Amino acid sequence: MHTFFKHHSFWLHSALAISTLALGAGAFFLWRGHTDLVAIRAELGSREQSITELQEKLSSTEEERNRLQNLLQQAAAENEAFGKRVETLASSVSLLDKLSKTDRELLQKYSSVYFLSENFIPDPLVPIDADLLARKDANAMIHGGVMPFLRSMMQAAKADGAPLLILSAYRSFSEQSAVKSGYKVTYGAGTANKFSADQGYSEHQLGSTIDFVTPEKPASLVPSFGETSQYDWLVKNAHKYGFVLSYPKGNTFFQYEPWHWRFVGVDLATRLHAENKYFYDLDQREINAYLARIFD
Ligand code: DAL
Ligand code: ZN
Repeated sequence: MHTFFKHHSFWLHSALAISTLALGAGAFFLWRGHTDLVAIRAELGSREQSITELQEKLSSTEEERNRLQNLLQQAAAENEAFGKRVETLASSVSLLDKLSKTDRELLQKYSSVYFLSENFIPDPLVPIDADLLARKDANAMIHGGVMPFLRSMMQAAKADGAPLLILSAYRSFSEQSAVKSGYKVTYGAGTANKFSADQGYSEHQLGSTIDFVTPEKPASLVPSFGETSQYDWLVKNAHKYGFVLSYPKGNTFFQYEPWHWRFVGVDLATRLHAENKYFYDLDQREINAYLARIFD
C-alpha cells in the first residue's frame, strides 16, 4: 500500500479524475450561467417591449388629451364669443326698447327750428314738490323722467349755498299761446319775439325745461340772475344732472336767458360742458344719438 501511494500513476489518475470533475463542474456552471443569461435576456426583451407599448399608449393618450384640451378651449372660446354676441344683442334690444319709449321731441331743437305739435304732452307729467317752487300754489309740472335729476340738482345747489327755486316749468301749447299773446299786447310783437317763443316753439312744452330764480328775487326773470352765485353754480355743475343753458349771450334765437335750463341728459350735457358748446351748436343728427340714454 505504501508503495502504491508512492507510485506515480496513482497521482496521475487522481489528478486526472479531479481535473475531469473540475471541468465537468465548470462546464455545468457555464451551461447554467448561459441558460440564465438567455432567460434574463428574454425577460429583458419582453419587458422592453412592454415599456415600448406603454410608452406608445402614453403618447397616444397624451395626444388624445391634447386634442380634447384643444376642443375644450375652442368650445370655451366659442361660448365666450356667443355670450358676447348675446350681451351685445341684449343691450341693443334694451336700447331699442328705451328708444321706443322715449319721445324723440325731448332732444329736438325747438326755438324756431322745429315745430312742436299742439297735441304734444310729455308723458309722464308729474307735479313738482311745492318746496322747490317760487310760487307754492303754482301747480307746476315736469316730465317724470326729469324730476329725479332736477330734485338732486336743486338739493346739491342748496347744500353748496346756492339755493334755487323754480318759477316756470312745463307750459302746454295753449298756455304758451296765452303767455305769448299777453307779451305781444304789453311789449309789442317785435320785443315779445326776443324773449318769448311762439306756441309750438317753446322748450317749456317739452316738460324738460325750467326757469330758475333765487329766493332773493323769486318773482321775476331778470338778466341779473346771470350775476348770482346760483348761476355760477349752474354753469359749473348743471351738466352733472343733465341740464344745459339754452340761450347764452349772443345766441341767434332769443335774448340772453341765464335762468332758462333744459334737460338733455347727463351724457350730452357733459359733452357740451367739456367742449364748451351749447345745445344749438350741435347738428341734430349728432344730438339724436343721445336720445336712448337721456334718462340714464
Ligand atoms: N323764453 C323762452 C324763449 C320760451 O318762451 O320758451
Ligand atoms: Zn324759459
